[in-house]
Amino acid sequence: MKETALPQPDYYVAICRAGLEPVVEAELKAWGLEIAFSGNRMVAFRGEEEDFYKANMGLRTALSILKPLRRFKARNMDMLYFQSRKVNWHQLFTPNCTMKIDLKGDWGNLGNQRFALYRVKDAIVDTFNKLCGERPSIATRDPDVHIVAFATKDEVTLYMDGSGEPLFKRGYRYEHGEAPLKEDLAAGMLQLVGWDGSTTLIDPLCGAGTLLFEGYLLANRIAPNIDRDFAFQRWENYSLPAYRRAKEALRSLERQAGPKVQFIGYETDTKTFNTLQRIAQRHFPQGAFSLHPKNFQDAGLRLPGSQIITNPPYGVRLRPDDLNGVYRDLGQFLKATAPEGRAAMITAAMEAAVYVGLPVKQKWKLFNGALECKLFAYDIPAPKPPREPKPDEEAKPIDEQIAEAADSIDTSSSPNPDDSKDAQA
Ligand SMILES: C[S@@+](CC[C@H](N)C(=O)[O-])C[C@H]1O[C@@H](n2cnc3c(N)ncnc32)[C@H](O)[C@@H]1O
Repeated sequence: MKETALPQPDYYVAICRAGLEPVVEAELKAWGLEIAFSGNRMVAFRGEEEDFYKANMGLRTALSILKPLRRFKARNMDMLYFQSRKVNWHQLFTPNCTMKIDLKGDWGNLGNQRFALYRVKDAIVDTFNKLCGERPSIATRDPDVHIVAFATKDEVTLYMDGSGEPLFKRGYRYEHGEAPLKEDLAAGMLQLVGWDGSTTLIDPLCGAGTLLFEGYLLANRIAPNIDRDFAFQRWENYSLPAYRRAKEALRSLERQAGPKVQFIGYETDTKTFNTLQRIAQRHFPQGAFSLHPKNFQDAGLRLPGSQIITNPPYGVRLRPDDLNGVYRDLGQFLKATAPEGRAAMITAAMEAAVYVGLPVKQKWKLFNGALECKLFAYDIPAPKPPREPKPDEEAKPIDEQIAEAADSIDTSSSPNPDDSKDAQA
């Protein structure tokens, strides 16, 4: 058979949500790593084994990190099988592991995708049977090993997924409220709007606190998955020393957020608020969290220069009676709470969003699950200075001003003075 191998990949691949590719790139570059290329929902980067472990533990906006095994041309099913047999599967994991294979990308050229999946599976199973006398079994849920076969036209790359559970599963989120944001999305929003962790962070509709907790991790430079387990720890070629070096490197980046940085949240739903408090107490006991079981409309906060960021109801899963009113109140909250600060909001409710009443400084398209959303960023203006009184107003004695004001009240539509009192109650 004609040789169909291609130059082998010298990079790892970070998979992410659409719209967060630039954030993943920035996170990798901040560690001094080289970006090989990036595409739709993926960023390929170069590094050592240690950097692969570091990416799993430390990237805030990735969903999984893949390690390439082999890249080849596959114009038909035989070529796919033949090339997949060339991987030393038995050196990567043991036959008592369970495995799952996923096909991604464009398999149009090879025809039947299900058959392609069987050919990759056969190649792995045949390798194990021949060399070990036994084979791994298939598990579609919680497999020990997850293999991804990615095709672009007639080119296929086989990968092993090093993360296992998706990386948004941080470990602190064993419970959540209604309509929670995924952690990678919350961390991505904070980075897209350029919050650097040096100012107080406020979420007026905080639910179970994803934005606040991700904000805390970001401000303190804590790697979000530093204490989690990963699939790569079950691989045969797993290097514990490299893992320890990666962990130490991440720990050395940690820092204490400034003493004035607070994390403030409001939440009206009692069950969600209790969850929020439990997470804060159990997982972030040293954080300066200030959590309030009340309407943001009654907050009475004033913290100029703060960053407000929120995920208000969109009217899809949570349906407030007056959605536009919630957004109007939110706009007033922003202006009253954080003059000269910054605000951001993710929403799919485009009509309601205009009721915030501030000019949009920047916007990004993001997806909350399957729902297309916009992340809007605003600069909050300084409060308007009180109106300068006109010279003749200053000159008038106070009793004259009161008399003038009384004359200007229009009572024509309210013949009975008692009616007008009722109308104001
Ligand atoms: C879309 S959810 C936010 C989810 C949150 N981002 C998370 O990850 O858990 C909106 C939240 O706002 C709360 N809420 C609605 N109206 C509110 C109000 N007036 N003041 C405070 N919280 C409110 C709801 O109970 C709900 O938990």
